[in-house]
Parts: sequence; C-alpha cells; structure tokens
Amino acid sequence: MTNNPFSLHNKTIFITGASSGIGRATAVECSKMGATVVVTGRNKERLYDTYSQLEGDGHLQFRTDLTNPDEMQQLLEFLPELDGFVVNAGIVKLSPVKSIKPDDLDRIFQLNSKIPIMMTRNLLKMKKLKRPSSIVYTSSTAGNYNFSPANGMYSSSKAALNGFMKSAAVDLASKGIRCNSVNPAMIETPMMKLRYISEKQLEENLKNYPLGRYGTPEEVAYAIIYLLSDASAWVTGTSILIDGGLTLN
Ligand SMILES: NC(=O)c1ccc[n+]([C@@H]2O[C@H](COP(=O)([O-])OP(=O)(O)OC[C@H]3O[C@@H](n4cnc5c(N)ncnc54)[C@H](OP(=O)(O)O)[C@@H]3O)[C@@H](O)[C@H]2O)c1
Repeated sequence: MTNNPFSLHNKTIFITGASSGIGRATAVECSKMGATVVVTGRNKERLYDTYSQLEGDGHLQFRTDLTNPDEMQQLLEFLPELDGFVVNAGIVKLSPVKSIKPDDLDRIFQLNSKIPIMMTRNLLKMKKLKRPSSIVYTSSTAGNYNFSPANGMYSSSKAALNGFMKSAAVDLASKGIRCNSVNPAMIETPMMKLRYISEKQLEENLKNYPLGRYGTPEEVAYAIIYLLSDASAWVTGTSILIDGGLTLN
C-alpha cells in the first residue's frame, strides 16, 4: 500500500461531543481513516448512534456529562493511552450584553473553556497522552475572527480556548504534544438552529458567505484529521479557519 501521511492507522483518538454534529462526523471520518476511536457524549441514544456508524473494530464509547465531576473522573480513568484528543463538546446561547445572566456565562465558560483546559491538564497528569500526540480544540470563527450581535458569551469562551491552545502548544512542544484548533463558521448541525430563529434569517446570513453555502460537519472533520495525522507533524499552535470565505468580508 502507498504511504498516506493523512492515515490514522494505529492511532487511538478520543473525541468529546461525539453524540452529534461535528463530533459525530469527526468520529466516523477518523474511523474511516483507520483510527481506533473513543467517543463520549451526554445522550446515551445519540452516542450509540455515533458508535454504531464507526468503521472497523475496537472502538469504545463512554456516556458522560462533562460537567459532572464524578462522571468526568470515571471517563478519564476509562481512557486508554491516546495519540489524539479532539476537544469538541460545546454549547451556545445568545444574549445581548445587558441581558447576560451570570449563570449562563458560567455554564458556557465551564463547558467551552474551563473543561477543555482541565481535561488537557488531567490527561497530562495521568500520562494518557502519548509522545508524540496531537490535541485539536474546536473553537469558532466567533472566537477571534467574526463577531455577531448577542454572541458575547460564546465568542469570549472560544477566544479563551484559542488563547489556551496557543499557550499549551508552547508548553507541551518539548513533550512532543502538538496543540491546534479548528475555527468553523456556520456548520449545519443542531447547534446552528440555536443561533438563528427563522429560516429567513438563515438565508439572509448566507449572503455573507462567498462560497454561497454553510459548511458540513465532515468538512470540519477533514481539517481535524489533518491536525491529528502525521501530515501535520510540524504544525503546532495554529488556528485553522474553515469558513466558506466568511472572514474575507
Ligand atoms: N455548528 C456550528 O455552526 C459551529 C460553528 C463553530 C464552532 N462550533 C463548535 O463545534 C463544536 C461542536 O458543535 P456542533 O455544532 O457539533 O453542536 P451539537 O450538534 O449541538 O453537538 C454538541 C455536542 O456537545 C455535547 N455536549 C453538550 N453539553 C455537554 C455536556 N455537559 N457533557 C458532555 N457533552 C456535552 C453534546 O452532547 P449531547 O448531544 O449528548 O447532549 C453534543 O455531542 C462546539 O464546540 C461548537 O461550539 C460549531
């Protein structure tokens, strides 16, 4: 067989938020590239749905609410040694600045920023990340590149994630651990519907996209696969935009 630098053969990849959208597509596409995949998500049925779509054998699933410390600890102990970690679970809630509620802000920062940081730290302490290995954070164009009304809580949580990613890339380079992020604009997943109330608004917003359509979860998965694979062995601290040209405007 010819050498394929994008192959994930013999790599074990752990993906959070794998019960839906981008995480599910990433799990399925990673399995097609030869990886052994460990998937986690909160909803048992949706997680099983992902698990049942994985190609090949040896994959693992573990249902977890990442905001529950006991469940999180059990998940971390369950994990095998990893070649790749895709930190993808996230939530969004729109709120104009003057209506921001402290509880919403805490919830968003908890899942989108603090848990990714603490999971990275805990996996390192537990020596679950191989040398070399690759961590990919799912940030967003909303973090550092494109700003829309009422999105302050989400934007700031994703900017924090990118800031951490770059700092961790410096810290962990000597250990052979690479850290990068993908930054999608609007991707057709259940989350997209939470941002725009009406089909008319979705159509109107599409005019901002030079490529004339929203992205698919698979199109994010392919960038994540690049960052997990040996093809990106000399890439760390990078934020890849996947945005249909949105940020050209
Ligand atoms: N879709 C977009 O337009 C877009 C654009 C840029 C960035 N992103 C980012 O991409 C990532 C994936 O988003 P998506 O569009 O695929 O959204 P999605 O379809 O809503 O999926 C979100 C995932 O996060 C999981 N999750 C939420 N709360 C959790 C918790 N407390 N514990 C464990 N898992 C939890 C969900 O699990 P359950 O389903 O089991 O609850 C689900 O698997 C997010 O970080 C998001 O911010 C999305």
